Amino acid sequence: MFSPKEIAEEIKKLEPELSVWREMFHRIPEKSMEEFETTEEIIRQLTGMGYEPVALSPTGVCACVGPEKGYTLALRADIDGLPVEEKTGLPFASVHPGWMHACGHDGHIAGLLGVAKVLKQMEEKLTVRVKLIFQPSEENTCGAKMLLKQGIHKDVDEIFGLHLFSDMERGTFSIEEGPRMAQTDRFFLTFYGKGGHAGKPHQCVDATVMAADFVMNIQNVVSREISPADGAVITVGSFHSGTQYNVISGEAKLEGTCRSFREETAEHLKEAIYRRAKAVADGYGGNVEISYDFGSHPPVVNEPEMTHRIEKEARAFCEDARMVSVPPLMLGEDFSWYQTKIPGVFAFAGCGSDENGVCYPNHHPKFDIAQSALPMAVKLHMSAVQAAMRKVEQ
Ligand code: NI
Repeated sequence: MFSPKEIAEEIKKLEPELSVWREMFHRIPEKSMEEFETTEEIIRQLTGMGYEPVALSPTGVCACVGPEKGYTLALRADIDGLPVEEKTGLPFASVHPGWMHACGHDGHIAGLLGVAKVLKQMEEKLTVRVKLIFQPSEENTCGAKMLLKQGIHKDVDEIFGLHLFSDMERGTFSIEEGPRMAQTDRFFLTFYGKGGHAGKPHQCVDATVMAADFVMNIQNVVSREISPADGAVITVGSFHSGTQYNVISGEAKLEGTCRSFREETAEHLKEAIYRRAKAVADGYGGNVEISYDFGSHPPVVNEPEMTHRIEKEARAFCEDARMVSVPPLMLGEDFSWYQTKIPGVFAFAGCGSDENGVCYPNHHPKFDIAQSALPMAVKLHMSAVQAAMRKVEQ
C-alpha cells in the first residue's frame, strides 16, 4: 500500500510540473476527434517517463503501469477543447483561434500525467495494474462510446474519473454514490403552418405563434408531470422562424434538450414532447415534424461499494482538502458509457477561487482553473488506486 504522507510529498515536488503541463495543453485546445497535437504531446510526456504509450484511433492515448496482468483499474481523463473564443488574457492562452480549453480538460490531462509520473516512480509498490486512458471527444459525447467499441474496457475491472468545476471552491471535492450527472437527450422540431401577408393573418397559419405556444406549453411538463422528488430539465435552446417583419412565417424550427437521471423519466419527457407538440400543431391546424435523439449518453451513476472504498482513501490522501456534498448535476458526461460495462466512480473537484478572480463557469470564454487544484486531482486518482489495491488485498 502507499503511504498517504509519502504520496503527498511526491505530489508536492510535482507541483511546478503540473502547472507547466496544464499551461502547455491550455495553449493547444483541439476539436473533438481531432486532438492530434494533444495526443502527440501526451505520448511524448509518457515516453519520457518510461512508459510505452499506445496511440488510440483516431486520437487519444492509453498506457499501463504495474503488474502485467491481474486486477485492473482504469483512470480516465478527457482531452478535447471547445469552440469558444478565449477571453482570459492569460499569457498561455489558446493559440488556436476560436478554440479553448474552456472546460478544464487541460487540467484533467495534467492531473493524469502527474499520476502517471508518481505511479512510475513507485511502480514496485503497485499491486494492481493501472490503465491510464486519455480519452478524446468527450464534448461531442462520442469518445467513450468509440473506445468501448474498440474494447478498451475488456481488461479493466473498474474505472475512475473526475471533473474540475470552477463553481466549487479549490480544495473541495465530492465522491458520492448514485446519480451524479444527467442523461442528455436532444430534440429537433419543425412546425409547419401557412405563410402569407402580415396584414392578413386570418388567411395564414402562423408558425411563429405555434412554436412560441409550444415553448410556453412545455414549461410545466417538469412541474406538473414529473415527481418533485425526481430531477428533470427541458430547455429549448434555439428558435428560428420567419424571414421578414411583414411576412407571416410558414415554418419554425426549434432545438432543445431534455435532462434526467432515470430511464423512466427520460422516456416520459420524450413522450411529453411528442404529445404536446402534436396537440399544439393540431390546435392551430398546422403540422409538426419531430426528431428525437434519445440517450446520447446515459446518466453518470456511481457504484456504491466502489464509491465508499475510494471516499475512505480520499479522506486520508486529501487531508488538506474538504469533502463536500454536491447535488447531482444536470450536465452530461460520457464517462457514463464506461459505467454501463464496468463499475465506475466519477468525482467532482473544485478549481474555483474568488481570490484569483477565478469564478467564471465551465464553458465561459473567461473560464480558468486555480492551478493549486491540480495536486488534489492527482490525490483523488491516487485514492482510487489505493482503493483498488485495498480490494485486491482483502
Ligand atoms: Ni468537461
